[in-house]
Amino acid sequence: MSMIPLFSPDMPTTDDLIPYLREIDCDHWYSNFGPKLNKFETLLAAHFQVSKNCISTSSSATTGLMMALKALALNFELGGRKRFRCLLPAWTFVASAQAVLEAGGLPLFCDVSGGSGALTPEIVEKYLSCSEAIVPDVVMAVAPFGAAVEVAEWDAFSLRTGIPVVIDAAASFFSVVPGIAPVIVSLHATKVFGVGEGGVIISQNASLIEKIHQISKFGFSKTRVATIRGGNYKLSEYHAAVGLAQFERLSRLKARYLRVKDIYLNELLNIDNISLLGDPGRLISSTLNVLVNNGTAKNAVQKLRMQGIGASIWWEDTLHRNPVFMEGGVVGELPVSDDMYDRVFGLPFHSKLTIDEIRCVLQAIRNI
Ligand SMILES: Cc1ncc(COP(=O)(O)O)c(C=O)c1O
Repeated sequence: MSMIPLFSPDMPTTDDLIPYLREIDCDHWYSNFGPKLNKFETLLAAHFQVSKNCISTSSSATTGLMMALKALALNFELGGRKRFRCLLPAWTFVASAQAVLEAGGLPLFCDVSGGSGALTPEIVEKYLSCSEAIVPDVVMAVAPFGAAVEVAEWDAFSLRTGIPVVIDAAASFFSVVPGIAPVIVSLHATKVFGVGEGGVIISQNASLIEKIHQISKFGFSKTRVATIRGGNYKLSEYHAAVGLAQFERLSRLKARYLRVKDIYLNELLNIDNISLLGDPGRLISSTLNVLVNNGTAKNAVQKLRMQGIGASIWWEDTLHRNPVFMEGGVVGELPVSDDMYDRVFGLPFHSKLTIDEIRCVLQAIRNI
């Protein structure tokens, strides 16, 4: 039986790339902030409506998150502690927690909000008001699956509490309104705006962006002598070339994803056995995640696959139960995160899905 695939990347073709590759041949510049990356970063800054010194690119969103944490950690006062504590939602992709460990921190998990599946300032502040609360050095908020990112709310939280925030908005290329807290967006091929592998960090705090930029290039600042710890987390000219070709297709790309989402949303509202995650509204994302109303996501996925529907669970690794991440601990009970891990799964969703394929998916959902 043929399977309707979960996902299919919407990437520039070889023909789209050739003009840019020819330019690279002429420039003889392959990495280290060459002309392609310079132009790509200019377009990214315009897309996110910030000045160019308010963005930095990275080799992935995971390294972008790690660098943002490392840059903030330069100012943490740890007293006698060896590692900083980062409070983050238990329900997220494994990369969020790995970035904390890679930055030298300890993940401390807390629960998410029922409707959106996201961590909110209210949840963190409620926790902080408990007498036994362990105060984190930093909070990592996560925007699940392309959700809108309320940076202003988190900036206000930081002003009230003195705790800085990093926002993992890996899939939110089209729904970030930047503020002070650094937001990290993925440019992986599974995202709406893919370049293969890559990430972008956006913050109105230009000096933080400058630190992140420095960390991405071995800790060098103006000279080739390291002044802080860093590594090689740069984006190459080839990836930037894909990004430039992708910007040329931006409006068509958006329209394709919106078309598929609109067809789905019209119908899904009439299906009883699943509910939508969050408020997909006018959001543009490369995935469509739903909650099964009875039973588990694992069972639903199995039943859909038996009908030729390539559904899958995108966030499968229950982080608060994985020994790799458990050293920092959890904050209270995590019933909502447990529920999200149990019931959320992704439907086949990509920009080339046909109406007939969507109808097949919908019919199969009615049978689970
Ligand atoms: C919430 C979240 N954070 C981080 C990442 C990692 O992004 P990247 O693959 O660009 O490192 C992903 C990838 O899907 C993600 O969903």
